Amino acid sequence: MNAWGRTDATSIILKEHQQLTAATGGMLQFVRREKNDAMPGFVVFRSLLYYIREYPERIHHPKEEQYLFTRIRARTDEIDNVLDDLALQHAESEAKIEDLEHALTRYELGEDTALQDLRVLVECYASFCANHRRIEEEIVLPVALRVLTAEDWTEIDAAFGANRDPFEGIPLEEDLDKLFHMILNIIPQVGP
Ligand SMILES: [Fe+2]
Ligand SMILES: [Fe+2]
Repeated sequence: MNAWGRTDATSIILKEHQQLTAATGGMLQFVRREKNDAMPGFVVFRSLLYYIREYPERIHHPKEEQYLFTRIRARTDEIDNVLDDLALQHAESEAKIEDLEHALTRYELGEDTALQDLRVLVECYASFCANHRRIEEEIVLPVALRVLTAEDWTEIDAAFGANRDPFEGIPLEEDLDKLFHMILNIIPQVGP
């Protein structure tokens, strides 16, 4: 049982938020390093971007909108504006990841100003994610816990506990969990 007095969806949301924080922490470490610091190369940064694209972008955000936000909107209109903003941020986040990928490529190709550009983008993305997470944890989840019914939670818990593609029978979330921990093992200072 977590701090919210619930298990399942809220625990999964909190865990996924921690993992995204650790992933952005890994990227920050990459761009803040000094020239001579021992550090894994571009492949780790690309793996972090891959992880973020595959998990928070393709699984976490859509589930929040499709299940959690939809059920909250059905029960109350008190945070409609907040939910609208968060949905916009989900869309913005994808564009930010693309910008990061382009900046990383320019850096790999040896462009002079590319590391500075990448650094600015990573710092912005990390604080963007931290702010997004804070709104969900401090505003959305408390409202959800107050207004949603047991029936709502049954649906939301099932959605967050389910695999993305049941047709293939591939436990994708588990694979991405493994990938995430492999990346963190390469960057030992950053932990989930
Ligand atoms: Fe979100
Ligand atoms: Fe979230």
